[in-house]
Amino acid sequence: MSLPSPSSENRAVVTGASSGIGTALATELAARGYSLILVARRGELLDKLAQRLTSAHGITAEVRAVDLSDRAQRGPLAEELAARDIAVLCNNAGVATFGAVADLDPAFERSVMELNAVAVHDLTLAVLPGMIERGGGGILITGSAAGNMPIPNNTTYAASKAFANSFSESLRGELRGSGVNVTLLAPGPVRTDNPEQTEAFVSDNKVPEFIWVSAEYTAKLSLDALARNKMRVVPGLLGKGMSVAGQFAPRALSAPIAGALYKRLGN
Ligand SMILES: NC(=O)c1ccc[n+]([C@@H]2O[C@H](COP(=O)([O-])OP(=O)(O)OC[C@H]3O[C@@H](n4cnc5c(N)ncnc54)[C@H](OP(=O)(O)O)[C@@H]3O)[C@@H](O)[C@H]2O)c1
Repeated sequence: MSLPSPSSENRAVVTGASSGIGTALATELAARGYSLILVARRGELLDKLAQRLTSAHGITAEVRAVDLSDRAQRGPLAEELAARDIAVLCNNAGVATFGAVADLDPAFERSVMELNAVAVHDLTLAVLPGMIERGGGGILITGSAAGNMPIPNNTTYAASKAFANSFSESLRGELRGSGVNVTLLAPGPVRTDNPEQTEAFVSDNKVPEFIWVSAEYTAKLSLDALARNKMRVVPGLLGKGMSVAGQFAPRALSAPIAGALYKRLGN
């Protein structure tokens, strides 16, 4: 089942639209004719993106400057989305921390869980009844190859992405025949303009150039996969390799290797 066609009434929602993969998803959705609701904390970046996409594609773009890790801010957004005709929801906002979890700020680690896991759950549950009632919709969830395996020194992130990966692929199994598509984007490293977020090997140039995938390529591939209701999309050779290793290598072996690598990254 393909996605609902764009209309003047319906909207595609992109969380984390102010940079990286989220900006690329919003740009690609606008090019496909969807009017948008752009969500992130940095409203000024969202305003600029909204202006750019409106003039380039003649769509409508609404901005919601919301801290999704804050339940008090997230609640009204979820209520709004539940009441509107949402054709596509891209649950994409996410952050990572590196280092031993006991050394990290507990309040920030909790906010990572709120953003990467609880907000994904909340916003999905908000749009789901409307999509089912209308018999159509698409939900893209940005998990990670990091969610396939234990990663000491990236513990909260890996565990939050394990939730995202599992939630997406489990939910999809409940929606067969409903007209609602659910696809997991589970990338390895994707080159973005944010050196802190871009996973693992990015900032040290440890990955040869030809292996890199761009945010733009990732967005196109993801939205094509969502339109075809694919279970999981993993862009790029390195992502695919990490995905296979993470899912099939014995955990007792993969955990210390990943832990040693991420310890270096934490430093
Ligand atoms: N790049 C990679 O290598 C890679 C690999 C695997 C998975 N991923 C996942 O892909 C997604 C996008 O990552 P990216 O690489 O594009 O990173 P990015 O450029 O840092 O984008 C992260 C986005 O999330 C938003 N965000 C962060 N905290 C937020 C909060 N509390 N409330 C609302 N929005 C918030 C940021 O906007 P504001 O700062 O304006 O709020 C930004 O728009 C994330 O879920 C990430 O875990 C990335």
